[in-house]
Amino acid sequence: KRAVIFDTDPGQDDAVAILTALASPELDVLGICTVAGNIPLDLTTKNALKLIELAGRTDVPVHAGCDRPLGRALVTAEHVHGETGLDGPDLPEPATGPGAGHATDFLIETVRAREPGTVTLMALGPLTNVALAFAKAPDIVSRLAGLVLMGGGCFEGGNITPAAEFNIYVDPEAAAMVFRSGVAITVLPLDVTHQMRSTKQRIDAFRALGNKAGEAVAAMLSFSERFDVEKYQSEGAPLHDPCVTAFVLDPSIFEGRQINVEIETGSALARGMTVADYWGVTDRPKNAFWVRSGDSDRFYQLLTERIGRLP
Ligand code: BDR
Ligand code: CA
Repeated sequence: KRAVIFDTDPGQDDAVAILTALASPELDVLGICTVAGNIPLDLTTKNALKLIELAGRTDVPVHAGCDRPLGRALVTAEHVHGETGLDGPDLPEPATGPGAGHATDFLIETVRAREPGTVTLMALGPLTNVALAFAKAPDIVSRLAGLVLMGGGCFEGGNITPAAEFNIYVDPEAAAMVFRSGVAITVLPLDVTHQMRSTKQRIDAFRALGNKAGEAVAAMLSFSERFDVEKYQSEGAPLHDPCVTAFVLDPSIFEGRQINVEIETGSALARGMTVADYWGVTDRPKNAFWVRSGDSDRFYQLLTERIGRLP
């Protein structure tokens, strides 16, 4: 089994990413670290707790992390995700609470306790916790098997500003630290997540599973539709964070290449832009595997099959 840790700000799409992993026998989800992003930290933490309950996996520890970016005011996205961050499904209040201890300490201790090169970190929100953990414990950078993250965009532009994708925009200093850390990074940017459209047929397939999780996923994706379809004028909304889980489960669904990525932190106009040297026009060191495309049918088949295994 491959050991993974989530760092996340759930969020409907984070939720689908986490549920898919919890349903996957190849993965051992060691814990879920929460960060402020789509909504404030108390809500991202509560939502993570709702998800482990929905999945029947209250054995998975949830730890709350940073409640704001390293050096900026928090920007949230209730306009996308609703006031709870997880609007859509009707999920009960969680019966369990978060674990004691800051998410970054949980991350550091868990990675140190395992064999080097065996834990993969999956980041689905602003990179605040990840950057802070790397700063507190630089030894974990080389102990990680890798960091697979949703963030950024090159060919698709941005979604929170014309230049920037939300996760990187919210904490660009954290992102810059992470991209320069030397950790083996895989990026699932808007370039690929915008290819994964949650069409009515795909949403119906989740509902038709007939289990609680399938119904919840259908409700979450239907909620996201309201905002995104109008915005992008397409059939079906993009689906972002589950690309991370799908990549870890089956990288053959995706295509990309190793490139240099730098994060813009200085400018106001281009704050949080991922300057991705996809065509190799500089000789800056390659620091990330940038995923540019993916097979959306295989992607949805994988997610649907996994969600069908849950209660
Ligand atoms: C990212 O921002 C959040 O709103 C989503 O959960 C996803 O992680 C997409 O830009
Ligand atoms: Ca997210």
